[in-house]
Amino acid sequence: MVERRLDPEHLPRHVAIIMDGNGRWAEERGLSRIEGHREGIESVRAVLRAAHELGIGTLTLYAFSLENWNRPRDEVGELMGLLERYLEEELDEVMRNGIRVRAVGRLELLPPSVREQLDRALAKTRDNDEMQLVFALSYGGRQEIVDGVRKLLRDVEQGKASADHIDEKAFSAYLYDPEVPDPDLLIRTGGESRVSNFLLWQIAYTEIHVTERMWPDFRKGDLVDAILDFQSRERRFGMTSAQVQGSK
Ligand code: IPE
Ligand code: IPE
Ligand code: MG
Repeated sequence: MVERRLDPEHLPRHVAIIMDGNGRWAEERGLSRIEGHREGIESVRAVLRAAHELGIGTLTLYAFSLENWNRPRDEVGELMGLLERYLEEELDEVMRNGIRVRAVGRLELLPPSVREQLDRALAKTRDNDEMQLVFALSYGGRQEIVDGVRKLLRDVEQGKASADHIDEKAFSAYLYDPEVPDPDLLIRTGGESRVSNFLLWQIAYTEIHVTERMWPDFRKGDLVDAILDFQSRERRFGMTSAQVQGSK
């Protein structure tokens, strides 16, 4: 079994994934982009199951960016439909596995029917504590920071916060979901080395793993490879290697 090689003592607590390459996967097969998104849902199922089996505490999936609203209407509609269906169909399994669903993004922009399914999943899974599954939906990292600044300024106006007391930790409390820890590992499928407006604040010291694998082909073995890559890194957080070794 491939996961034997993983060091169970040094698993990333939080894995975040930019699920990219659905369109190219489909185009390579002469299928429509939509078919690629449909197939991508199978990867979501498989990867959630795998992350749960491996003991990953938090899995964040970038499912739809704010910029993705600019895609052709049909494609946006299809993605929203898939999301709604996924949330509806997967809820039982998510409950069985003790997984808490969370969501970050400008959720108010989602169609009401998607919002309904999402709210249902968020409410129903609220007390689950075995693992958390975070969906980044209608999400943008810059917009998250701007939304946080707005909330902060409102608190300042009302005398609930003051400029002198704002540091990184205090500001983090104004982001979409301050309870979610920063990702330790960020995976991007589809081969592109960019972050595409994902979790800009939270990935300050995240290890990044880019794989050529298109999202619809991504499975447990690929997740294990990414974690093995993560485990081969030395996270120095700005210090020297000697300091890091000395503090172990
Ligand atoms: C990722 O696949 C899914 C979403 C962005 C919603 P893409 O649709 O971006 O696939 P490519 O990058 O065009 O292959
Ligand atoms: C990032 O993929 C967004 C999601 C995976 C949801 P994109 O396909 O939208 O990113 P770009 O356009 O290649 O940067
Ligand atoms: Mg893409």
